[in-house]
Amino acid sequence: MPYQVLARKWRPQRFEDMVGQEVILRMLTNALTQQRLHHAYLFTGTRGVGKTTLARILAKCFNCETGVTATPCGTCPTCQAIEGGQFMDLYEVDAASRTKVEDTRELLDNILYPPTQGRYKIYLIDEVHMLSNHSFNALLKTLEEPPAHVKFLLATTDPKRLPITILSRCLQFHLRRITPEQIAKHLQHICSTENISSEQPALEKLAKAADGSLRDALSLLDQAIAYGQGCITQEEVQTLLGCVAQEDLLPLLQALAQQKGNELFQALADLSERAPDFQSVLEELITLFHRLAIMQMVPTSTSGDDSLLALSQQFTPEDIQIYYQIALLGRRDLPLAPSPQQGFEMTVLRLLAFKPSAVSTEKTSPKPTVKPAPHPTPEIVNKVATHSSPAPAIVANTDWRDLLPKLELTGMAYALAANCTLVKLTEHNVELALSAHHEPMLNQKLKERIAEALSRHLDKTIQLDISLTAEELPTPAKLQQHEQKEQLAAAAKTIMQDPKVKQLVEMYDAAVEVSLIN
Ligand SMILES: Nc1ncnc2c1ncn2[C@@H]1O[C@H](COP(=O)(O)OP(=O)(O)OP(=O)(O)O)[C@@H](O)[C@H]1O
Ligand SMILES: [Mg+2]
Ligand SMILES: [Zn+2]
Repeated sequence: MPYQVLARKWRPQRFEDMVGQEVILRMLTNALTQQRLHHAYLFTGTRGVGKTTLARILAKCFNCETGVTATPCGTCPTCQAIEGGQFMDLYEVDAASRTKVEDTRELLDNILYPPTQGRYKIYLIDEVHMLSNHSFNALLKTLEEPPAHVKFLLATTDPKRLPITILSRCLQFHLRRITPEQIAKHLQHICSTENISSEQPALEKLAKAADGSLRDALSLLDQAIAYGQGCITQEEVQTLLGCVAQEDLLPLLQALAQQKGNELFQALADLSERAPDFQSVLEELITLFHRLAIMQMVPTSTSGDDSLLALSQQFTPEDIQIYYQIALLGRRDLPLAPSPQQGFEMTVLRLLAFKPSAVSTEKTSPKPTVKPAPHPTPEIVNKVATHSSPAPAIVANTDWRDLLPKLELTGMAYALAANCTLVKLTEHNVELALSAHHEPMLNQKLKERIAEALSRHLDKTIQLDISLTAEELPTPAKLQQHEQKEQLAAAAKTIMQDPKVKQLVEMYDAAVEVSLIN
């Protein structure tokens, strides 16, 4: 027998062979058992979830020679004819290829004649949303009051494009996406029945890549069988799908945790060598940040993954939250990048460039509300200034530092603004300066958010420019970091001078752990 693709070979012939769709199967089974039949059914849902499969089973339920039943025998000549695609009274039409009204009229021409072979004439119209308006009108008349011996089974992936007049005349059933777990289990079942050895994680990857469609899952399985010569391993599926295992991303996260740019670049180069699908790599990275966040909160939740647990302790919870956001934004913006690789690399560089704990230490407040800081003392201003640009920007910068909290910016927009200094503020223009090494944070969306916030606060339309400079700038983030260091040093000094602490240190030859003071 010629090779049959799995999707064809494993098309369910009975309700009980279907995967998922439990609610719909129950409704149809009850209706058939109680002989409560409607004349028009509409199956909606994304591609490859069982619409056509269900319609064909229903055609058997209506016509099986054992009677109208939810469990057609599958052996009578009618069931056999339907399964073999030779049933005379089953008119299967793909509306995508027959949209014209002439086609529809021709289809409905002999609707009045009784069925030649079966109990009912079945009109199965797939992708019904593709019909032209005239076709819909021609269909509508018949749908209004079809002859008793006719059943309409309509299927579409896009019900919104159906006229309400058609929708209102059908019994609608929305088929859900199949969950990755259900798909993986079904693939497992197929592999064991077909005697194909497979690794569970490999099937789970295929199931996830199928994104809810069982047909897609089965064609991926076909590919994986061909690629792996009959044995399906995680390694080969990863290569096939162009995805990477989470452990392949650990070197990158290690470098990020230690803020080691060179090592990060090396990790990026190693990844790129595999020419992966960068969209799915980003998804793995996002999933990893999610796992790290859980591990930070519930260390016992680790599935014995010590390397990941150790890694989770090298970041603060704020870091992981912000990195998660940056990676999500990176995935969203990936299609806009000149290439997926560049989009991925820019996202990773943004992770490196952005050290959240430098921005706000307000551990409790959900958004980085920066207290309107007192004007920085002249010596701090001088100290920071000596490492950076000339004094005038500082003066302007103290206004910027006052202004910033009033803009009520959050997340990345706040972070970008906090790493800028104010260069110029005129009637309708604001110019900010950003150190070049923070360039990865700069993007159009964030600029627009800052401009909106300025316009809202200053109650006029503000044009915002952000220029890059090679200099280090005394930004609000930098000043705040500096102050924190000063405060920390002052606190440590006070503690060290405390007579009791002095006594403890002498008595137990102890030392004060300064990093724990905060
Ligand atoms: N719920 C399901 N249970 C078992 N197999 C399924 C299911 N959905 C799809 N399949 C498998 O995928 C193949 C295609 O399914 P089907 O033609 O019913 O999808 P569809 O929803 O009509 O897709 P499309 O919208 O692309 O026409 C089937 O032959 C079957 O092998
Ligand atoms: Mg279909
Ligand atoms: Zn039968």
